Amino acid sequence: MMEHGTREYQAVWMEGSKLMMIDQRLLPERFEVIELTRASEVGSAIKDMTVRGAPAIGAAAAYGMALAALQGDDLRESAEMLKSQRPTAHDLFYAVDFMVEALKRGEEPAKAASRYANQIVEKCRLIGMNGALLIKDGDRIMTHCNAGALATVDYGTALAPIRVAWRGGKKLFVYVSETRPRLQGMRLTAYELRNEEIPHAIIVDGASGHFMRKGVDLVIVGADRVALNGDFANKIGTFEKAVLAKEMGIPFYVAAPISTFDFNTESGKDIVIEDRDEDEVLMMDGKRIAPAGCSALNPSFDMTPAKYVTGFITEIGVLDPDQITRVKGARI
Ligand code: MRU
Repeated sequence: MMEHGTREYQAVWMEGSKLMMIDQRLLPERFEVIELTRASEVGSAIKDMTVRGAPAIGAAAAYGMALAALQGDDLRESAEMLKSQRPTAHDLFYAVDFMVEALKRGEEPAKAASRYANQIVEKCRLIGMNGALLIKDGDRIMTHCNAGALATVDYGTALAPIRVAWRGGKKLFVYVSETRPRLQGMRLTAYELRNEEIPHAIIVDGASGHFMRKGVDLVIVGADRVALNGDFANKIGTFEKAVLAKEMGIPFYVAAPISTFDFNTESGKDIVIEDRDEDEVLMMDGKRIAPAGCSALNPSFDMTPAKYVTGFITEIGVLDPDQITRVKGARI
């Protein structure tokens, strides 16, 4: 739960027939909750990153399917529309398929979507418990992007072990890389850590190697999609952290629920990487910074080969990359 004012919030939730979500584009400057009643609005919120982070996108899409059912929309069209908003996060596809099956069985739409979201929260709680065992008192941990409560409904994936270790009394320090171009690390991860008073510092993305040499005990990141062979996609900049960590002998963990694992994708080269608008790179705070006439490339994710991964922290335990094929049966 994230505290704001006198209330605690999850990233997305349902109130009656309305889907509520924190507008993550506005944080940390403004904390605003928006209300959605149509699946098409949920689609737009996923595309424009009002809601973002693989598990949170999945939960929003599950609620989007519930809204479609409640409004009498064509469910097949709604499912396709929701899936087409962002290509990389596997949870989006997984959640929509979960809802299609639940609705076919005649489950009440809002109840089925809430069941999905609650299961994700429980999985993240377990990721926290399993991952916290890897963290020692005094550890310095590096993370990237935002894989916290905002990205997952609650707890987080990469941030869950950090939360559990901190709440359990371990002293920690977190290096938060800012995560150009949309700054999810600086704007969202630092916001979450600050709210819980977990010691941290924001660093620029290019400073990872510098701080690893000074002393980082482990790296924990989230994932948007994990392939069968353990290659995975996560926010752009993850790959170079993984290579640096291996070079320096620093354990590199990927925290993700099994819903992020794509058992139909053999290896990372088959993962579709989203390209976003070049203006995210060329502009800052609505102002163009780049010289006129220059263009930019803006892949939102990169792919890290399995050989750089020490382990996947999941709800069923910490897995070696070569154990992934054995866990298909563990899906919700
Ligand atoms: O583009 P975003 O902000 O949706 O990207 C988010 C990430 O890359 C996260 O690390 C990933 O989704 C894991 S979230 C628990």
